[in-house]
Amino acid sequence: MIDLSIKIGNLKLKNPVMLASGTCGPEQAKFAKLEKIGAIITKSVTLNPTIGNLPPRTTETVGGMLNSIGLENPGTEKFIQDKLPDYLALNTPVIVNVAAQSQEGYITVARKLNDTDISGFEINVSCPNVKGLGVEFGKDPQVLEELTSKIRKATSKPIIIKLSPNVTDIQPLAHAAENGGADAVSLINTLYGLKINLETKTPELGNITGGLSGPCIKPVALYYVYKVAQVCKIPVIGIGGIINYKDALEFLVIGASAIQIGTANFFNPNTGPEIAAGIKNYCEQQGVKNIQELIGSRKF
Ligand code: DHB
Repeated sequence: MIDLSIKIGNLKLKNPVMLASGTCGPEQAKFAKLEKIGAIITKSVTLNPTIGNLPPRTTETVGGMLNSIGLENPGTEKFIQDKLPDYLALNTPVIVNVAAQSQEGYITVARKLNDTDISGFEINVSCPNVKGLGVEFGKDPQVLEELTSKIRKATSKPIIIKLSPNVTDIQPLAHAAENGGADAVSLINTLYGLKINLETKTPELGNITGGLSGPCIKPVALYYVYKVAQVCKIPVIGIGGIINYKDALEFLVIGASAIQIGTANFFNPNTGPEIAAGIKNYCEQQGVKNIQELIGSRKF
């Protein structure tokens, strides 16, 4: 038996494969055996309903895509009433991603969800598309540490801080999350991007700019995970352009304790289970008995 399990705070996941926020939902269960993955992460939930940005909201790029959804969601109360039951009926742990305009916003959402059966929180301090909704908390280490420590006091559940690559130096921000009491950091969120339609000379997205994701960002994501894993004692969750088990293994070797699948869900909703199976096969072939032997096993 190969032990693929990993821990985030007091949460034990059966393997290191998670589905990233905004790229999946309960409907994913129609196409993929979600009991084969470690966890699913919801689209960001805000305290009040958020309408989102003007369409078009997505567009393809070479090796990836741009999106600017604008954090559309029904607000916490409606999320708990209408959406959460479908998530909790899935056979996999549910982590709720939270975005807010203020410290109080994050804390109130965390408190409201603390008594539900969710397995933890991912705190979005890195949305590239909505001014005032989160990103302000992810750029200054002092602000991020204070926010993290306040959320820490509001919930007993594991907290993952999702970091942005759109910063000058990511290491002090990862430190701040750790010092504030986060159980893990996840990175990278999307990179700022733009696409122009040459016929109309206008942007392809209604919001003008968007967040870039997909295989084209994998080297950037690996770089940031490498930097953060060097300075963090808490688990680092790698995100960015992972489409197969080899991509996932690169992140693990560099120091990620777990990974998230994002854009790949849109073209192959079964990517998560396939990657979990691929990692297991690799371990079998290499004589790896415990995934911990692989994590951070880089030789440089
Ligand atoms: C959105 C939020 C994100 O955190 C992201 O990386 C991309 C898009 C959004 O809702 O617009």
